[in-house]
Amino acid sequence: MTLQDIQTIAVIGAGTMGQGIAQLCAQSGFATLLYDINGTVLEKARVATQQSLAKLVEKGKMTAVEQEAVFSRITFTQDVLQLRAEVVIEAVVERLDVKHSILNEIADQNPPTTILASNTSSLPITRIAAKVQGPERVVGLHFFNPATIMKLVEVISGAATAPEVTQLMKDLAIKLGKTPVIAQDAPGFIVNRVARHFYVESLKLLEEGVASHESIDRLLQASGFKMGPFQLMDLIGVDTNYSVTSAMFEAFHQDPKFRPSRWQQQKVDAGHHGRKTGKGFYDYPEGS
Ligand code: NAI
Repeated sequence: MTLQDIQTIAVIGAGTMGQGIAQLCAQSGFATLLYDINGTVLEKARVATQQSLAKLVEKGKMTAVEQEAVFSRITFTQDVLQLRAEVVIEAVVERLDVKHSILNEIADQNPPTTILASNTSSLPITRIAAKVQGPERVVGLHFFNPATIMKLVEVISGAATAPEVTQLMKDLAIKLGKTPVIAQDAPGFIVNRVARHFYVESLKLLEEGVASHESIDRLLQASGFKMGPFQLMDLIGVDTNYSVTSAMFEAFHQDPKFRPSRWQQQKVDAGHHGRKTGKGFYDYPEGS
């Protein structure tokens, strides 16, 4: 398959990442299918896409005609049978069993050439591929949040990934306006491995009572970071960030430097998942 053969991209999971990835694909001219099992999430994604495109028009970065065309390229669907595409980008919750199940469902109804890309932050691509039909077409395509804005995309090659699949996803990332970096398969790949300590150490400071989360955020912002760790966890999703740390802790044989925070777990248990639920380390009144 070449880049020209890619007509339709299916994005699985319409949450924080899936919505942005789907918008990006449509903005780059692809017919895009955005699927979620949860109708409420899908509706939120539709509204968020409309608002995001309207902002681009307001800022003069897109015409109203283009806005209409981009929006009409996206099919929002809860029907898994509609998911027929040359490339599938999976952005469901960070759980291996869920990823295996949905990717095999998609594999069943698509030809063996369909590329199955995962937006996982931390789960080894080799482990995802091992239980999916045709592991050679399973690859990591790791976008950063917000997917429409952040330039970097990690393209991850699992042990079974065919080199031409990795190359094609690198070309696709460029077509999407991104800067791809190829990484071999390792827990957390490159960025999340390095960035883990930004979160883990900040949570330790909070647990030890060294400073409040507001102070830690202010201090790190003052030292040059665009966002502090707690603001960033709220943007990413406290639940997603916790799952990623937990997955990396296990993958590194319980190396204490990756130990997940009890405080963070409590936030997850309470449903304080950050911006997407209106409350995380900070409060987000509706419409804010
Ligand atoms: P999210 O929790 O916002 O969205 C996940 C969505 O998957 C939910 O809407 C849920 O309804 C849906 N879902 C669950 N099971 C499903 C199934 N069987 N079929 C279809 N949809 C299903 O999660 P988020 O943050 O978008 O993360 C998705 C993936 O992207 C994860 O693997 C995460 O590690 C990764 N990621 C997240 C980033 C972030 O900043 N949040 C950044 C980069 C990667």
